[in-house]
Amino acid sequence: MGFVESQERIDDRLDHDGSLAEVEEEIIDPAPYGEERKAALRPFASATIPRGLAEPVVETTTQPRTALWRRLVLPLMLAAALLAPAPAALAEDGDDGSVPSDRFGRLFPDLPPASEPSDALTDAIAKLGTPGGPLDAKDALDRGPIDLIAVPSLSDNNPNNPKHTAGTTFLGQFVDHDLTRDAGSPLGVPTEPGSIENLRTPSFDLDSVYGEGPSRSSELYEPTDRVKLRVERVEEDGFEDLPRRSDDSAIVGDDRNDENLVIAGLHAAFLKFHNHAVDVVREQGTRNPHQVFERARQLTRWHYQWVVLHEFLPQIVGQKRVDQALKLRKFFHPETPFIPVEFQSAAYRFGHSQVRPSYRANLAGDNGGPFFAFIFDPSQFGKPDPDDLTGGSRAPRRFIGWQTFFDFGDGEMRPNKRIDTKISTPLFQLPVGTLPGGRGPASLAHRNLLRGLTWSLPSGQRIASQMGARALSPSDLSELAGYGLGLERATPLWYYILKEAQVTEDGLRLGPVGGGIVAEVFVGLLELDESSYLNQNGWRPTLPSQQRGEFTMVDFLRFAGVDPASRGQ
Ligand code: HEM
Repeated sequence: MGFVESQERIDDRLDHDGSLAEVEEEIIDPAPYGEERKAALRPFASATIPRGLAEPVVETTTQPRTALWRRLVLPLMLAAALLAPAPAALAEDGDDGSVPSDRFGRLFPDLPPASEPSDALTDAIAKLGTPGGPLDAKDALDRGPIDLIAVPSLSDNNPNNPKHTAGTTFLGQFVDHDLTRDAGSPLGVPTEPGSIENLRTPSFDLDSVYGEGPSRSSELYEPTDRVKLRVERVEEDGFEDLPRRSDDSAIVGDDRNDENLVIAGLHAAFLKFHNHAVDVVREQGTRNPHQVFERARQLTRWHYQWVVLHEFLPQIVGQKRVDQALKLRKFFHPETPFIPVEFQSAAYRFGHSQVRPSYRANLAGDNGGPFFAFIFDPSQFGKPDPDDLTGGSRAPRRFIGWQTFFDFGDGEMRPNKRIDTKISTPLFQLPVGTLPGGRGPASLAHRNLLRGLTWSLPSGQRIASQMGARALSPSDLSELAGYGLGLERATPLWYYILKEAQVTEDGLRLGPVGGGIVAEVFVGLLELDESSYLNQNGWRPTLPSQQRGEFTMVDFLRFAGVDPASRGQ
């Protein structure tokens, strides 16, 4: 009953705020994809280097960042704006120093790069990120995927995080793919963020799921019921799978959501969640297809955003930092939302440290037994039903039993890894199809450090000082002293953020710099999005949940119908 009342309130709002008109347009408008959207739907390897971006990148006038610009030009522009009769004069994209939403920008534009580029620095980064190097957790892969979960001593160098369930990692990866996709910055080559397109919208709007809506992304929708998203099955009476082409590549709004089996399963859960929301909206009596679609998408987005702000974000940054960011954002307050490179290439890549070397994908799907596997195993690449968890293939055992990943209270949940400078070994040899540009290095740690060079990111210590946080001391980072480059005093941001979590929070959550950046960007993106649930006058979850008015990931999976009880396993 509560749901019905709340739904009526949502419906009222929808009828008055014009969003239905937008959906009608969306369904009627036959315009094809923009080129960049098409690129985002192509397989990984071809998706990320649009024409022209392999050329040297020139700084654009829409993204000025130098201290000089801020000191001299900005005050003049502000003075001119005060004198000008029309206040809208500065509102053009970028003219007011704002970053266009389809570009990357900076959170700390006045801070210098951590180090000047040099061969010695590139060598040091390669050594840090190489397989078997200091960042490699050196998991005992020869012991197999089961022992790496079941034998505690094998986790000594890559400790578990008892505060996070294994699914936290993949929800984090899913969120990443909702917010940000670098259109092809050159790896390790200094580049202005404003010159590179972000192929995702910088908001929690699930464009990775909905694409551009039923009309423009028609391949994502059911041909016979176009307000529903296409879902397929692993076999005729099997569990859900992403819709796939004849070569098994996924037909989804962002092909990275088929990079591994767990994120593919999560994407499929979102498809099913939306379709169930459609059923609920229809049961309420709504018949107009445009209204049905818009209301179901709204319900899906708002419940997802609720989970992100109330469950996921507190887990990764701590409730205090969430509250602080809600009270006052000190560093991220743009007029229009955008993704800062400090977040995109460093702080929010903390999640790479949470990935386990192996998982139990389901409990009874592998000929009646559990399906254990490494996240990636190069010996399996290219096989039709590989013994690892690479995405891009369909087979009866390739679905997710969610009780391993989130806590359904049945004792089956397993933890993920702590946030620290130990990265699980399989991430040092990624499948080539998952690499932007389809080229090496195949070590994710190496790539993350190179992206820091791409954006000339400031050091962790400088950002700490700018944020008023206590910086790590050189002795906390003494392992970096041996490179002779002062990295223990001016540390690459991604490395710093991992070390900060390890030293200040025992690896259970992010520390002040990493947590501060992630909290402000998440809260900022939600607050800057007029259609987010935060801007709807105290909206609370309306769909069925364990606790009325709350909504958790477990509730989400139940509503999607992919929980253990719905599966019978
Ligand atoms: C098995 C798990 C994962 C794999 C294999 C993976 C792999 C990758 C790869 C290959 C890239 C591109 C690297 C580059 O060339 O710069 C990337 C980028 C990224 N990853 Fe992950 N990732 C995983 C999980 C996560 C998680 C859990 C998070 C956060 C919680 C995360 C956050 C990011 C972000 C923010 C980017 C930049 C995206 C962009 O704007 O293009 N990843 N990841």
